[in-house]
Amino acid sequence: MYDHDDILNKLNHNISLGEKIRFLHGALAERFPSIDRISAAIYDPKSDILKTFVHSSGGDDPLSHYQASLAESRALREILEKGRPRVVNDLAIFAAGGHAHTLQIRTQGYRSSYTMPMFLNGVFFGFIFFNSYTKDPFTNDSLHYLDLFGHLISLIIINEVSSIQTLLAAVKTARDVTHHRDVETGAHLDRMSRFAQLIAREMADKYQFTDDYIEHVFLFAPLHDIGKIGIPDSILLKPGKLTEQEFMNMQQHVVKGRRIIDEMLENFGFDSIQHVDILRNIATYHHEAVNGSGYPQGLEGVAIPIEARIVAVADVFDALTSRRPYKEPWSNEDAFTTLRRLAGVSLDRECVDALECHRPEVEAIQARFQEDQIG
Ligand code: C2E
Ligand code: SIN
Ligand code: SIN
Ligand code: FE
Ligand code: FE
Repeated sequence: MYDHDDILNKLNHNISLGEKIRFLHGALAERFPSIDRISAAIYDPKSDILKTFVHSSGGDDPLSHYQASLAESRALREILEKGRPRVVNDLAIFAAGGHAHTLQIRTQGYRSSYTMPMFLNGVFFGFIFFNSYTKDPFTNDSLHYLDLFGHLISLIIINEVSSIQTLLAAVKTARDVTHHRDVETGAHLDRMSRFAQLIAREMADKYQFTDDYIEHVFLFAPLHDIGKIGIPDSILLKPGKLTEQEFMNMQQHVVKGRRIIDEMLENFGFDSIQHVDILRNIATYHHEAVNGSGYPQGLEGVAIPIEARIVAVADVFDALTSRRPYKEPWSNEDAFTTLRRLAGVSLDRECVDALECHRPEVEAIQARFQEDQIG
């Protein structure tokens, strides 16, 4: 008998994605101590944007809350076109120029990088970066291990992301078989989830949001109104103002949503999805008001989970600027005026400010995701 402990045993536990990556980093560093940072960025094909997702590094992460268009990164595009990872044993070769993120990596003192593209069934979905403070750490021996670790990390990320995608697909189907889609279009969900992401990124430093957290707010935001599939069409599609009775019925969408989510998580057996509380909180509390006048519980201020306060602002802004069976779209100007009026009353003031200080990005999102496009 030979006594041996599985060195990756911790991966069997229900720990967060970030913890898994940090743990793997530790295991890798035992053998290759010169690997000082591992990070992963995932790709959103709809907007051609690459976003940092998880990382493991001591100290500050130079690329936290970072996103860039893939089209703008020549070096990363080249990796994709070749379909092969890239070894840069000395980042000084980019001394003269290079992309902004490479510059940030260098400013932080990293000297070298190994970049692996991640694929799922042949479809590109992101990159893994290994960085070192030393130059020339990458040898055949270390690269062999980095490839193994890279694929392991990629599988762990796929497991997480594809569970969420399955969940979203199930919800889309539910939306399509009910008349819910007549009210809230795919474009509304594309926009409001990106508004929520903008707000979360803006508030990230103060609230210490991780990229992983921000990404989950973005992924889960489109499910905020899932409970509307349980509301009768006569109310949901009513062209005019709701009666008091009808509005009370309508308000049930938040508790119905919570129930649907709990059932789906159970039926699909999605124990592996991290941060499901973000999803539950968004569905349950996105109509709470900071002065306590909201529903379903009348929670006040910081008692309302922050992800729900973020999504509330994103949702109301997009509801105001969109056509609804009961209203015409408002201008951005009017919508922001109303948001400012609601700040501190129903909406969280910091979330409102965070959205308003990104008006150019808000307009870019509106231009990209227009109503007449198939959502
Ligand atoms: P929704 O259309 O997605 O609107 C989401 C939230 O945006 C609303 O939550 C409200 O906070 C805000 N909002 C939307 N339109 C306006 C507006 O014209 N003025 C102001 N100040 N705020 C607006 P709320 O009020 O809890 O409503 C929840 C859902 O109930 C709405 O979701 C919509 O589906 C339905 N609803 C609300 N009022 C009416 C109505 O008069 N007629 C119909 N048919 N449905 C309504
Ligand atoms: C770029 O990213 O566009 C060029 C510099 C680099 O990242 O290697
Ligand atoms: C790059 O190498 O172009 C991306 C920067 C990084 O290594 O994180
Ligand atoms: Fe709602
Ligand atoms: Fe909505």
